[in-house]
Parts: sequence; C-alpha cells; structure tokens
Amino acid sequence: MCGIVGYVGDNYDISVVVEGLKRLEYRGYDSAGLACVNIDNSINSKNEIKYCKSVGKVGNLQQKIFQEYPNLIAADSNFKSNQQLNVIAHTRWATHGEPSTINAHPHLDTSEKFAIVHNGIIENYENLREHLIAQDFTFKSETDSEVIANLISYCYEGDFFAAVASAVKKLQGTYGIAVISTEKPDEIIVASKGSPIAIGLRENDKIIASDVVAIAAYTKQVIYLSDDDIAIVTSNNIEIRNVDNVVIEREKKTLDWDIESVSKGEYAHFMLKEIFEQPQVLANSVRGRYNLDLATANLAGLNLTAQDIVRLNRIVIAACGTSLNAGLLGEYYFEDLAHIPTEVDQAAEFRYRNPIIEVDSLVLAVSQSGETADTLAAVNEAINKGAIVAAICNSVGSTIARRCGRGVYLHAGVEVSVASTKAFTCQSVVMLLMALMFGRCRRLNQQTGQDLIAEIIKIPQLVEEVLAQSDEIHRIAKKYVKCCNFLYIGRGYLYPVALEGALKLKEISYIHAEGYHAAELKHGPIALLCEDTPVMALANKMPGKDKVIGNIQECLARKAPVVVTATKNDADIEKLAVDDVIWLPEASVYTTPIITAVALQLFSYFVALERGCEIDQPRNLAKSVTVE
Ligand code: M6R
Repeated sequence: MCGIVGYVGDNYDISVVVEGLKRLEYRGYDSAGLACVNIDNSINSKNEIKYCKSVGKVGNLQQKIFQEYPNLIAADSNFKSNQQLNVIAHTRWATHGEPSTINAHPHLDTSEKFAIVHNGIIENYENLREHLIAQDFTFKSETDSEVIANLISYCYEGDFFAAVASAVKKLQGTYGIAVISTEKPDEIIVASKGSPIAIGLRENDKIIASDVVAIAAYTKQVIYLSDDDIAIVTSNNIEIRNVDNVVIEREKKTLDWDIESVSKGEYAHFMLKEIFEQPQVLANSVRGRYNLDLATANLAGLNLTAQDIVRLNRIVIAACGTSLNAGLLGEYYFEDLAHIPTEVDQAAEFRYRNPIIEVDSLVLAVSQSGETADTLAAVNEAINKGAIVAAICNSVGSTIARRCGRGVYLHAGVEVSVASTKAFTCQSVVMLLMALMFGRCRRLNQQTGQDLIAEIIKIPQLVEEVLAQSDEIHRIAKKYVKCCNFLYIGRGYLYPVALEGALKLKEISYIHAEGYHAAELKHGPIALLCEDTPVMALANKMPGKDKVIGNIQECLARKAPVVVTATKNDADIEKLAVDDVIWLPEASVYTTPIITAVALQLFSYFVALERGCEIDQPRNLAKSVTVE
C-alpha cells in the first residue's frame, strides 16, 4: 500500500528517495510524487515548496521530474537548495478518490507553506475539512490526507513542531506522516500512529521511510517511531517528543538483513525466487528452535512458562488472507497435538463480534508484514480484553510484533512478491513447532515429540523434492491457462491448503478460483462443474483420502477436468481417470500440507506466467494492507 520516503541532508541528488520509492513498489501503488523545500537565499525572496506528482509507476514520476526540472541533479537546480536537500516522497494506493495526479501525494496547504505525505486513514477528515473550509482553507483533492496539510497550517503560530503536534491531536484514525515547511527548511517532521515510520541514521543525513526496505541500502541503523511519537529530523539530529512535547528516547535497532536479499537474482520474478527459497528459509525458521533430548520446541520469544501453557484454555488466531489460511492449518495442529480448543478469526471481524477472550486465552496474530491494519486492530482489542497476545510475524520490528511484545519471527527474509509464498510455509512450520511445545507441556509423550521433530527436520528436503517437479508442474499448468474458473477441494489438513491454493491462483492469474472443503461440493459448488471448470483435488495419502477420491469421481462424472495432488506411487490414484497428477513425496499428516502448498504455488505461478500476468505486483493488490 502507500509508501513514504524522505531525505534530509547535504546530498543534492534525489536518487535516494527515487530509489527508495522504487524499493517500495512491491507494496502496490497507483501514483507517486515528491516535494522539497527550495531555499532561496537572495534578498527579499522566500523559500518555496516545489513538487511533482504523476499517475502510474515511479518511472513516470522520474520522467516528469526530468521534464519539469531538467537540472534536477545539478547543484544549482531550481528544484532544490544548493545548501541542503529536504525532500518527502510517496507512493499512493488509492482509498479516498481515484488514482490521479491531484489525489497523489504530497499535499500542500492553501498557503503552500507545508507539504505532507500520509499513510493510513483519517476517519474524521470530513468534519475537519468542513471546519477548515469555513476558515477559508481550500482543497484540491478528494483525499482524506489533504486535510492534514491544512490542519497543520491552521495550527501554525510560528512553531513548526507545535503546529504538527496540535494537528495530529485532532486526527482520528491512523497515520504515518512526513511534513516539510518553508519555515524550517532544514527539518522534516515525522509522526506515527498505527502506521509505521522508521528513521535511517547516518552521520550527515537521515532517511525516513514507512518500510525499512527503502532505507537498508544506505544504513543498517534505524529508529522506529512508536504510536504518538513525533520526531524532528535534521541532517545531523533527531529529536523525538510526544504530542505533549515531552522528549522521548527510542532505541536504535540494527537491520539484520542485506539489501541483496531484496533483489530477484537469477529469477524472472520475486515470487519464483521466494518459492525456491523455501528449503532454506524453512530451515531458518526451525533452526535452534527444537531440543531433541527434551523432545520439544524452544520458542523463548513467546515468553510463556510451562504453567502458562498448561493453563491455556483457548487459542484464537487472528489474521487475513494467506496468513488466515496458515492460521486455519494452525488450528488443526493446536487441536490435534496440544488439545487446546482453537478458533480462527478473520481479523477484521475480531473486534466487531465481541469475541470471548479470557485471561487464559492466547491470541495469536499471524501476519507476514506485521502491518496489516485489521490484524493490528485485533491485537489491540485482544490486549484490551486482557488476553495473552503473541505475534507470528516475518518483518522484524513491525508494528504488530512491537505491539504484542512477544511472539515468534519467521526468519523467512524479506518477502517482496505480493503473493505470499514462503511466509505461508514458514508460518505453518512455526505453528507446528508451537503445537509441539504446547503438546509436550500438556499431553504428548517424549517419543511422539521426537518423532514429530524428525518430521519437521525433513521438511526442507521434502520441499526440495517438490521443487524438482517444477518443469512437470509447468507442463501441467500450461493446459489450464485458458480457463476462467477453478475449484480447489481438500479435506482435513488439506482443506486450508485448498483455500490457499485457490487464493494464490486468483490473485496472480486473475482466474476465478475458490477453495472448498471437498464435502461442501455437494452442497452447492457442484452446480458449477462442467468441462470448462477444472478441479484441483488434494488427494495425498492422508486421512480422508478415500472420501476425496469419491469427490473426484463426482467431478469426473460431470465432465470437469481434474488435476490431483497425490503421494508418489499411490495405486489408488494411478487407477483414476483424471487429467493430470502432481506427484508429491511421501510425508506425514503434519508436513504433507506444507509441501502440497508449495506445489500449488508453482502451479499458480506457471499459469500466471503463461497468461502473461504481472506476477509480482498483481493489479489492485498491495503487499501490506495498512488500511481497514
Ligand atoms: O502481511 P499479512 O500476512 O498480514 O498480510 C495478510 C494478507 O494481506 C496477505 O496474506 C494477502 O492475502 C496476500 N496477498 C496473499 O498472497
């Protein structure tokens, strides 16, 4: 979704912000823009804000800057100061108002003294806007964000910080903002509430961003703002205060990953790279987290004692999209292995349905990005209700991880492709480890624990074997490129995998795909079956396989083409007259869902590739959904 980048320092080149915006492209956006303060030192002249915005890719913005400000790179450019560069930039994912140049950020106040970029949603913008219009402020865009620029201007009485502080006090909703002003051309003020802002630290300049991916190429030292923090950032200083002007210290963090890991390398797409990374990242997720002698998992970040675990009376998993599907798989693990009643909530519903949460309830927020607005709202609700709340996140230092204060990181590395792949399998394996740990505290004997660890350790090798089928899966995928609908069916542990397989196919290939419990077929979806509607049936050797075979027969009887995922050498499947079989290695009930998901990721990838889709950034989608 929207992305913020800013730079203050003595490097006159805007490439830091343009590169930063490009690094944020993976998050999804529809327009981009930047603004800076042009300092004029001549007598009787005044500073002014220059800006440039365009619809579409950052490349379009870059071109427009070069057309409108041909000397941009030169130190005497009229776009920026020859003393210092102070620039804020943004990629917008439209919420209020269509993607257009006017709606793109930055937004300026009526007097053009202030420019802002904003991530998040201002819920009370209509009231504020009416109030400001009555005070003769004017508005150009349809956005909620523009109100912030005019509000700061309205609150300005000669003190830039005080104006931002009193403006944000009036905002309801979420914001990550960066503000520049002609009045203080050497400062960027940033503020955050429910929408992240990080500041990259260098000696003579500072880079701000809503996602550290835009910073990592320049520095590994960052400070994350917490909710209600406001920071005055200059080239050689950062001062953080709260809205009441009290100075606050925030710890410096070191980014522990390399920017190289955020490049495609030899792969055509990030998605393919991330699918192929899975043996490695799954090993990372598991490494150092089990103890064979004690036959259990070590997940110290959960900060739960054995007594806490024994007392747990319920687990509630809150998540969205692919993370929700991983949560559904987690439900099977927790109930089977630890016998803890588990329910999975669409995070957006969690706080509106008044969930039953008690002190011994564990709420797990599962989120790759750790920034998903609905999941964050669920976390806040669970904390307010007094639950133990833990995060399963990939992005280190993300808002959800920090808000929960306990949890397990995936160690999957940055996931760039909008379609989540490695996060799903790592989330699943982390929940499997957690179920093992809980199970050992509550009911599993040592032998069962050791057997399970042996299976978990084998996952990376099993995934390698699935990846070795890539060419064959590509061959099969080519046959289904022209279809418009696809049904995915599975039972038991493979039911969440059917949902995830269908989600993956629809989001990157734009083929309408739905996942169903195989038993549900007869209760409605079977009406869709015909020779143009293929079915992906998950029929690996698992409990319920025979029933899935029955469902496959029902599909074949209605002339639907059927693709099956099956366990190698399964004679029952060999006998079936299905169209295609994706043969997968023999694995346990706990690990089969994970490896089957990998096969379905490859299938979706190849279908999308053959259809010529824009795989890494599918239309309308954003990598992290930071608005509700
Ligand atoms: O970052 P999160 O895991 O919280 O994101 C949740 C969903 O937005 C995400 O999984 C989305 O469904 C992906 N595009 C799926 O590939």
